Amino acid sequence: MKISVVGAGYVGLVTGACFADLGNQVYVVDIDKDKIEDLKKGNVPIYEPGLEEMVRRNLEQGRLVFGTEVRTAVHHGEVIFIAVGTPAKEYGEADLSYVEAVARSIAKNMPDYRLVVEKSTVPVNTGEQVKRTIRLNNPKKIKFDVASNPEFLAEGTAVRDFMNPDRIVIGVESKRAKDILSELYEPLKAPIVVTDIRSAEIIKHASNSLLATKISFINAVANVCEASGADITQVARGIGLDKRIGSEFLNAGVGYGGSCFPKDIDAFVRIADKLGYDFHLLKSVRQINAEQKAIFVRKIEDALWIVKGKTIAVLGLSFKPNTDDMREAPSVDVINSLQTMGATVKAYDPQAMEKAKAVLKDVTYCKDAYETVEGSDCMVVLTDWNDFKELDFSRVLASMRHPIIVDGRNIYPRKKMEDLGFQYFGVGH
Ligand code: UGA
Repeated sequence: MKISVVGAGYVGLVTGACFADLGNQVYVVDIDKDKIEDLKKGNVPIYEPGLEEMVRRNLEQGRLVFGTEVRTAVHHGEVIFIAVGTPAKEYGEADLSYVEAVARSIAKNMPDYRLVVEKSTVPVNTGEQVKRTIRLNNPKKIKFDVASNPEFLAEGTAVRDFMNPDRIVIGVESKRAKDILSELYEPLKAPIVVTDIRSAEIIKHASNSLLATKISFINAVANVCEASGADITQVARGIGLDKRIGSEFLNAGVGYGGSCFPKDIDAFVRIADKLGYDFHLLKSVRQINAEQKAIFVRKIEDALWIVKGKTIAVLGLSFKPNTDDMREAPSVDVINSLQTMGATVKAYDPQAMEKAKAVLKDVTYCKDAYETVEGSDCMVVLTDWNDFKELDFSRVLASMRHPIIVDGRNIYPRKKMEDLGFQYFGVGH
């Protein structure tokens, strides 16, 4: 099938590359000329396992083409995915101006029938507005359909998630649109949930909100565990084995970050508000997440007694492992607070240090975990990279000034750490 993707960000790039890999002819367009020049050479601007190889393979085989002309994209693809950014405006509302601009360009350039698919995460009723915009800018009355096809891929596992989805959601209004999208996704052999457009839009916001709710819930329970002497790891296992609850997303820690949960929750709260519903549950989820970072900083303070003048070794900066993404990473707030209290911060991250340099000041970046902990008063784990799970702890112990570990992701067993001679502080036990 001939497909176009507008927007070469995370979602657009993965969508374009994966559809090309499935044998489609894909044209990906973006207004960022430098990015497109890099992509034409096979250089992917983000760290995402498997993506660069996939982009290169499909470029070589001519199934994936990058460009900057929306007009060309609209002519190329019978199906056009809108995957442009929807950044947050004031009060968390999604800024849909890029979506609107793309809808106008599509309308003006459509040679014949087009299926316009929202792939970006957008608030409910955006599909309706896209439809209206295309109608208003379509003097020749060319036929088109609008559909919503939210993406559920997670960073770090994006290619795998795209290729092996739990489900595919398509919100449509016509049989033609349903048939096209069903055919496109047929090779993935995944359950397809066909809904109306508004329901598909809500499914996306509600899914992310529920996942974030699980995280804030377990973090709240972790705080009760800590105060009572219970152990959150055992508690989470005991809860999660109930199939109705499920054991994923019950890892207590320093809070969620990333480009999706914080933004999507704000946007969902905002759209609910506009529709007349006060989504106070999600306001609490958001508040618990903010508090969790402050609680974690207090934990470091308790472990050190006096933070001023201490050297703190931070392992992990990205908001989660297997990505270099620093957006809303808990490390930013935690490190800023520690520096405000007078600590010196050394840090190491396997992928995110370049991006971290743009958002963190006065941090000494190290070449690995060992260099980071050398001479430090406390080691703080903020991202659960596998690289940190199996360290040579006798070496770590020997090189630290004080053997204190504050583990924001519970990656180490407390007893083992204590037996090795560390003072160990996790989350929720
Ligand atoms: C999330 C969703 O998982 C995807 O399904 C969705 O498509 C995506 O947002 C999106 O809307 O684009 P992502 O933000 O890449 O994906 O990352 P997650 O794996 O969901 O992790 C989010 C945050 O929650 C991370 O900071 C992670 O460390 C934290 N987390 C996750 C926990 O603190 N505990 C857990 O048990 C799980």
